[in-house]
Amino acid sequence: MSTDARARAAADLLRARARSTILTDVGDDDLTRQHSPLMSPLVWDLAHIGNQEELWLVRDVGRREPVRDDIDRLYDAFKHPRATRPSLPLLGPGEARAYVRTVRDKVLDILDTVPLEGARLVDGGFAFGMIAQHEQQHDETMLATHQLREGDPALTAPPPPPSIADVGREVLVPGGPFTMGTSAEPWALDNERPAHEVDVASFHIDTAPVTNAQYAVFIDDGGYLDPRWWSPEGWHHRVHKGLVRPMHWHGDGTCTHFGVRAPIDPAAPVVHVCYHEAAAYAAWAGRRLPTEAEWEKAARHDPETGRSRRYPWGDADPGEAHANLGQRHLRPAPVGAYPAGASPLGVHQLIGDVWEWTSSDFHGYPGFAAFPYREYSEVFFGTEYKVLRGGSFGTDAVACRGTFRNWDLPVRRQIFAGFRCARDAREGE
Ligand SMILES: [Fe+2]
Repeated sequence: MSTDARARAAADLLRARARSTILTDVGDDDLTRQHSPLMSPLVWDLAHIGNQEELWLVRDVGRREPVRDDIDRLYDAFKHPRATRPSLPLLGPGEARAYVRTVRDKVLDILDTVPLEGARLVDGGFAFGMIAQHEQQHDETMLATHQLREGDPALTAPPPPPSIADVGREVLVPGGPFTMGTSAEPWALDNERPAHEVDVASFHIDTAPVTNAQYAVFIDDGGYLDPRWWSPEGWHHRVHKGLVRPMHWHGDGTCTHFGVRAPIDPAAPVVHVCYHEAAAYAAWAGRRLPTEAEWEKAARHDPETGRSRRYPWGDADPGEAHANLGQRHLRPAPVGAYPAGASPLGVHQLIGDVWEWTSSDFHGYPGFAAFPYREYSEVFFGTEYKVLRGGSFGTDAVACRGTFRNWDLPVRRQIFAGFRCARDAREGE
């Protein structure tokens, strides 16, 4: 177990760093500039990745001397909101790269020698997995910064695979209890724990995320101009911000992905819509967003065995045929591209492609206990944030499980978020 955990941690840390290196392989001006007030300068993310790794793995787990104990405050996300980060005396590009390299060398040495048992922080390599997930989460954030960046394209990737399956429209998920969350996944974060039983009434859920073509019908039908489909808060936001189409669409059938303007793929899931837009579309379509419990039941519940799987396709880690993850492709794949990743009931593309907005606020599960620190998720619990599920093309497998919970403000659209719809089952269905 310990050898496996070490090898897995080393591989996941390596993959995260390779990704961070690609995302920060741009000129100094691009690294230090703030591309949007919503985002940090890329060079802040880079040194923050190293600083969190130093705090948790070098100082706490490894009990080593600090590499730099003078910069902790600069890279504390709670001390400085994103908009103010460019004005801080940040490490420059060369210093930041050298810092993360020094920290990583020490961490690989610590990973070779430290016992991975005897304390909850290190059991099964948890702290190393937490830090690999943290780096990958910032890699997705940096990818979103690239999407907001102007200028010549800096990233390239092959297109996603084509559609090879007809996925149908919706499936019935029969009512009854299922196991939500996990107590067994060694690197699951505090908010995914503990496993607990939830009784979910019968419902229908779309077999795929809402596509660009479907979303365009909502726009063409005047969906953005009709307050009937919007919550009062959503309508106020839409009017105030002048929203009339997804972010990065130009209104002429084209959109921009990472500096390349191209025709919108009608068969791909819509992306860069906020919660309010997703909820308005669902209302217009006579449907609703799924709750978080419904989403997870559709993704994990195996009606034959009654068990909850790790992923829709089973317990195996995500492979290339299962899901569009890990920034292998820089956009969502068309619906029907991943039949091998479907759930037992035939729900497709729950993992990868786009984060999916749910109707649920972000709360702790019954029996929740903050670990290893309150700021990881507990301070975000409440009615301010909505839960997103499933991961996007920008999410790495290490930070994406059937139980993984993301959260964001309902107005956010720079993230790689889309949605699918659900509806109550009518009597006799
Ligand atoms: Fe962070």
